[in-house]
Amino acid sequence: MSDMIKEIKKRRTFAIISHPDAGKTTLTEKFLLYGGVINQAGSVKGKATAKHAVSDWMDIEKERGISVTSSVLQFEYGDCCINILDTPGHQDFSEDTYRTLMAADSAVMVIDGGKGVEAQTRKLFKVCAMRHIPVFTFINKMDREARDSFDLLDEIEKELGIPTCPVNWPIGSGSLFRGVFERETRTIELFEDTMKGTRMGTVKKISFDDPGIAEYVEDEAMEQLQEEIELLDGAGADFDQALVDAGELSPVFFGSALMNFGVESFLNHFLSMTTSPLPRMSDQGLIDPMKEKDFSAFVFKIQANMNKAHRDRVAFMRICSGEFEAGMDAFHVQGGKKIRLSQPQQMMANGRKMIDRAYGGDIIGIFDPGIFSIGDTITTSGDRYSYEGIPTFAPEHFARVRQVDTMKRKQFIKGINQIAQEGAIQIFQEYNTGMEEIIVGVVGVLQFDVLVYRLRNEYNVEIILEKLPYEHIRWVENTDLDIKEIRGTSDMKKVKDLKGRPLLLFINSWSVGMTLDRNEGLILSEFGKE
Ligand code: G4P
Repeated sequence: MSDMIKEIKKRRTFAIISHPDAGKTTLTEKFLLYGGVINQAGSVKGKATAKHAVSDWMDIEKERGISVTSSVLQFEYGDCCINILDTPGHQDFSEDTYRTLMAADSAVMVIDGGKGVEAQTRKLFKVCAMRHIPVFTFINKMDREARDSFDLLDEIEKELGIPTCPVNWPIGSGSLFRGVFERETRTIELFEDTMKGTRMGTVKKISFDDPGIAEYVEDEAMEQLQEEIELLDGAGADFDQALVDAGELSPVFFGSALMNFGVESFLNHFLSMTTSPLPRMSDQGLIDPMKEKDFSAFVFKIQANMNKAHRDRVAFMRICSGEFEAGMDAFHVQGGKKIRLSQPQQMMANGRKMIDRAYGGDIIGIFDPGIFSIGDTITTSGDRYSYEGIPTFAPEHFARVRQVDTMKRKQFIKGINQIAQEGAIQIFQEYNTGMEEIIVGVVGVLQFDVLVYRLRNEYNVEIILEKLPYEHIRWVENTDLDIKEIRGTSDMKKVKDLKGRPLLLFINSWSVGMTLDRNEGLILSEFGKE
């Protein structure tokens, strides 16, 4: 095996998805602790600093136009080189959050044991399901009163449509939490407060059949555990690596990120069950990083104007195959040109770092003089294949946008089109109006502020935003259908996107169903496919 293939095989590139407050930051922090990147919990940008960053965005970091929130954390752990992709939540939730998942090979889904599946978990999971990537579930906060474990699994299966397979099982929760039972080894890991993760706690293990267990776990709790194990063994799905690989079965783990309990065991199991960089589909078939020697990558995110003085942009790309070397030449397939990949950088826990070498599975940021678009392919292969495009994700907030000064029509159209091309916003037009009045759709509301700010500062255009009540958008998949013929509900609006694809906007999901009922054969999609 060549050194390059060895390096690629070591990579584990994944995203952590969760609803805000489920414990994503805390879990990431514990991973870094085990990776030796930090010595003490609390050194990662925690929630407090993340909040700070959001408010800073308006005051101090305005010139950036956008806050730098999406980053990758890289560290070595055991034989693996781990790349954790951050998926911004809270107000920073945007299309980038979804696009980041296009660069991951698997996902860790953190669920708050007291709350279960929440809105943002659902949305992010949908993207993972669309890609059929493996999803691992960590049910967090077991040190607090949690919901019934069977109910939680039921909810995941029903709401997300993925069967689950518990790898371990909790003994109680909250003040009665005694630890977790590892099903394969039939051992119990005893819960103890590891000083809130300020050190890597030593976990005490004891065999389920050891009589000494009575010292740690009350008889009643043991009886309940016994019953639950029998139920699980009888009714639960068996672990099946092939189903996990296909994203059709989610291994489930219980623990407490804050107390640093169950994290190390989760990390070890997860790393052995998840995957090295996966092959990717291109217009010339699957490109397998274990076979393809040439460098190839695709752009999944563009960060604009990080430094206004230079009007620079950074294109973030996921390397799919081969080896990257700073300053190397490669072919930009969509631009049809050879380019030099300069100023490569990696976003690290503690800021940006210049890098000179990277491998399949890694994420790098490249200086972009304004030539890249989301989804573009860069490769040194003579075959010049291009990777499958990144879908457009359904915006959830809409506004009608008008310019204040109609004399600046040209700047307005240029600005709004450029910002849309970068993927920060989506623009739609009604069928019978011109570009003076357009509808803007965004995934996260913060993007509206970004739009106003950037048009004012970069294009000298003032706009008026009038929020619209639409919440649901569907792309019309039928290619042979005249959009005029679609009979919808009274609240429905017909629009087209930048590429001229027809779409329907709805105020509520009931209208979506009604419209489907009224138009036989109509196919609507939540993703705008290339
Ligand atoms: P997020 O990134 O998913 O938004 O969640 P984050 O890790 O910031 O955690 C949200 C809150 O939940 C934090 O408390 C955190 O300490 C707490 N938390 C995370 N994991 C656990 C756990 O296993 N058990 C318990 N009991 N709490 C957990 P906070 O008070 O809101 O913030 P902070 O002041 O502690 O930072």
